[in-house]
Amino acid sequence: MNYSYFEQEFQKKYGRQPIIVRSPGRINIIGEHTDYNQGFVLPAAVDKEIVLAMAKNDSDTIRVTALDVGEEVEFRTDQADQVEEPWAKYIAGVLLQFQKLSLDIRGFDCVFGGTIPLGAGMSSSAALECGIGYGMARLFDHELDPLTLVKAAQRAENEFVGVKCGIMDQFANVFSKEGHVIKLDCRDLRYEYFPAELDTHTLVLFDTQVKHSLGSSEYNVRRKECEEGVEVISKHYPNVTSLRDCTLEMLEKAKAGMTGKVADRCEYVISEISRVEQACEALQVKALDELGRLMYETHDGLSQKYEVSCVELDVLVDLTRSMNAVAGARMMGGGFGGCTINLVDKTHRDTVISQVKSGYAEKFGHEPKVYEVSLAEGTGTAEEYALK
Ligand code: GLA
Repeated sequence: MNYSYFEQEFQKKYGRQPIIVRSPGRINIIGEHTDYNQGFVLPAAVDKEIVLAMAKNDSDTIRVTALDVGEEVEFRTDQADQVEEPWAKYIAGVLLQFQKLSLDIRGFDCVFGGTIPLGAGMSSSAALECGIGYGMARLFDHELDPLTLVKAAQRAENEFVGVKCGIMDQFANVFSKEGHVIKLDCRDLRYEYFPAELDTHTLVLFDTQVKHSLGSSEYNVRRKECEEGVEVISKHYPNVTSLRDCTLEMLEKAKAGMTGKVADRCEYVISEISRVEQACEALQVKALDELGRLMYETHDGLSQKYEVSCVELDVLVDLTRSMNAVAGARMMGGGFGGCTINLVDKTHRDTVISQVKSGYAEKFGHEPKVYEVSLAEGTGTAEEYALK
């Protein structure tokens, strides 16, 4: 990434020297829609990032320019709750959380842009939240422990943007380590790094480039449906407080008291939580075929039981099913558009990409975008990153 470009853009505009913060997007190998059910996830930051150039401005006004969309938003620190521009809400939302934590943040200027594709399910929103939070803490000399940053960013999205997201994206953004995936237990936030030794294989993302508008409202609906399921199951098993505490046998027993839809949602989540554990075992012994098989199972669950896929994602996954060079594929992230993640044999990478591209174009009249990603370090200043 060319950090000096952002430095120069900032200097051109404001004539001062900024700090440069880099904040990555993320992938998730497996464990989808499990975070807000207290389950496991297996994410990692990637080498696509947002870069923010920031400096104090000795006032109480925050001025932010989003280079990629050519828009500028300005607001007073005591009026952050009135910000309406969708992208600026991620910034104002984090400021509001910092204010709740009694962290004194004054005016600053910021210019940002980057390479995380928007709406691709790689969590550009968490990157913006955590990146701005990290930068604000730096500028105003607040020692902020990483978990406080993660939680403030998540709450910003829950409370100000209105998406009741779990903690995976913000956690991955802040805690990731180059070359590793994080197995995060979303119940107690204990985590473990796993070297992502894929050897013969590489991770390829195919981007449908569609984002169905249902996304965030349906996300909140899924959360509710899971809560409904837990309520019914807990009538039979009083110790149950989340789907993490449930087995398929317990669900079976309680099923009669819930709608078919709610039962399906619970079935998917309970199975997915145990799939993450199986996937970690597979990763440890480099059983990539097994890991891939689990990824396909996840996709089928997300598509048929959890119903957060869409025709474009299903086609992308289906195209790979008969390819020996693809160990596994599935939709990634919240759903209703965005990317699939594919575990692809390196030696046949080009053939796989060209076959998926042409198969997709035949159906939808345009090719998917393709990203090959490597696993990167979490949010920090560009300076710190260069020293690593
Ligand atoms: C979005 C949310 C995450 C997580 C995923 C689905 O990315 O922000 O918290 O729930 O969807 O796994």
